[in-house]
Parts: sequence; structure tokens; C-alpha cells
Amino acid sequence: MVELTAKSGCKINLLLNVLGRRPDGFHELETVMLPVPIYDELQFEKTGDGIHLTCNKPELSVGEDNLIVRAAQKFFERVPGGVRVHLTKNLPIGGGIGAGSANAAVTLKALNEMNGFPLSEILLHQLAADLGSDVPFFLNNLPALATGRGEQVTNFVANTRGWTLVLVFPGFGVSTPWAYKELKNYPGRVSGKEGLAEEMKACLEKGEMESVCNKLFNSLEAPVSGKYPILQLYQDFFRELGAVGTLMSGSGSTTFAWFREQAIAQSALEGFRDRFGAQITLFQTALET
Ligand code: C5P
Repeated sequence: MVELTAKSGCKINLLLNVLGRRPDGFHELETVMLPVPIYDELQFEKTGDGIHLTCNKPELSVGEDNLIVRAAQKFFERVPGGVRVHLTKNLPIGGGIGAGSANAAVTLKALNEMNGFPLSEILLHQLAADLGSDVPFFLNNLPALATGRGEQVTNFVANTRGWTLVLVFPGFGVSTPWAYKELKNYPGRVSGKEGLAEEMKACLEKGEMESVCNKLFNSLEAPVSGKYPILQLYQDFFRELGAVGTLMSGSGSTTFAWFREQAIAQSALEGFRDRFGAQITLFQTALET
């Protein structure tokens, strides 16, 4: 029996600069993403045919709207066979950290490996991009500058050594299509100006984390925190507790903060728990550099 177990991570956007609307309904953007080593787990078992997904979280659909199922469908349209998948979900759903996109990318890669690598890297990238703008990033799962609608990925080496990242998930998700649509009411947030991503990348390559923190920017933050003002409170509170920089990731709702010292990050995390209670989920990690 062919079996495979794989970890499926997530990301934060240190920069998400929307440049304008495209004729295909998407938005042109430039973004800088870092992989975050907090994981779901996926277990695959090769079968004769069919796609069967189970999950430890009953609130998550295991039907055709699940990106794991859609990724497997795309694979088995091209290669004969089937799979049984079990997802152990630890990461927030709809949280702007790409956990579902990572699940899809990991599924494509795992199925390709279990079946003797029948699909080329180029085809895998194309299938990933069809599944969602963030999915190609997770094929490599390395620091990246991405352009287009987010699917054109260039990897680089980021140095965040010594710094600690805290993530807070408020317990509600944000609809990505809604967040992009809402941007039309915040025209000032669509800069139309490229170049911020290159600047952010350069700071990360040099390990200049103070500058990284000063340059954090997300076009979607204004529309999303217009609807969910608590996200602004999270950032204010993070700063009070010693964060050097803080921002919403992707289309939200996950908010992250960078700390110079692990001990300060730890006490900020406890401060958050005391202030905002049990409905929020907090993670603390250093990145792998
Ligand atoms: O590609 P993904 O499935 O993540 O996109 C979800 C939705 O977010 C799209 O249907 C679109 O409405 C919006 N979006 C966008 N521009 C992007 C990425 C996403 O408008 N670059």
C-alpha cells in the first residue's frame, strides 16, 4: 500500500500592494510572503479510484468545495487512480494565511510523488494557479515576491533571525472576494505604483527587520478593518505590548506582530489572552531561515 504523510503550512504577507483591477475580475498586485512553520497534517493513501476526504473538524466541508478535493480532481483528470486523504486541521479556516491553499499545493505534490512523478513542474504550477492565486507559492514554500494575481512567484532568502512572530486569529474569517470588491470604496489604498515589494525583499535579504517593520503594508487592511474594527484594536494592543511592527495578513482576519525578543513576545501573547479571551487563537514562532 502506498501511503504518505505531509505537513501543510501557512504564510504571512508582509506586503500586499494592490496595483489595479484586471479585465479578468482579479486584481494585479505585488506581494511579499514568508512561510510560517505552523502546520496542518495530511495523510494520503493510494486507492484504485475515487477521491475520499475526511477531516478532524466537522465544520470544514469535505466535498467538492474543499481545495484538497479540487486539487485531487485536477490530478486524476490527468493520471488514472484514486486517493483517500485525512486532514488534521490545526490552522484557522478563512484566516488570510493561506492554509487551504497550502493543503491544495501539498495534495498536488503528494499525489505526483505517490504516482511516480507523472506531471511536470510546469504543469503542477499551472494546476496550482488554477486552484487559487496563493497555491503556487506553497509548491516551494519559501520566502517569495509574487506578482500578477499572486501566482507568479520568485523565491529569495529572507533573514529574520532572532525575531519572534506572533499570530492572532480572532475566531472569524473574512471573505477574500468581498475584501477585494470593497477596495473600490478605498481608492487611496490602490497605489498603482510598483516597487514596494522589491524594497521589502531587499530589507529581508539584508536582515533589516526594523525597516521591514516600518514598510509593512496591506491594501486590503483599510476595507477589512472598516468592517471589523477590532482588528485595529489588535494592532494597537500589540504595539502597546512591545511589537515593533504589526499588520493584517492577506485578506484577514489573522493579524501578526514582530517582536525583537522572544520573552516580550511571550508576555504579549499572555496579555492578549487575558484581554481578548478564549475565542481567539494565538501562535508564536520563529521562522526557519
Ligand atoms: O485566487 P483566489 O481563489 O484566492 O481568489 C479568490 C477571490 O479573491 C477571487 O475570485 C477574486 O475575487 C479575489 N482576488 C482578486 N485579485 C487577486 C486575488 C484574488 O481580486 N489577485
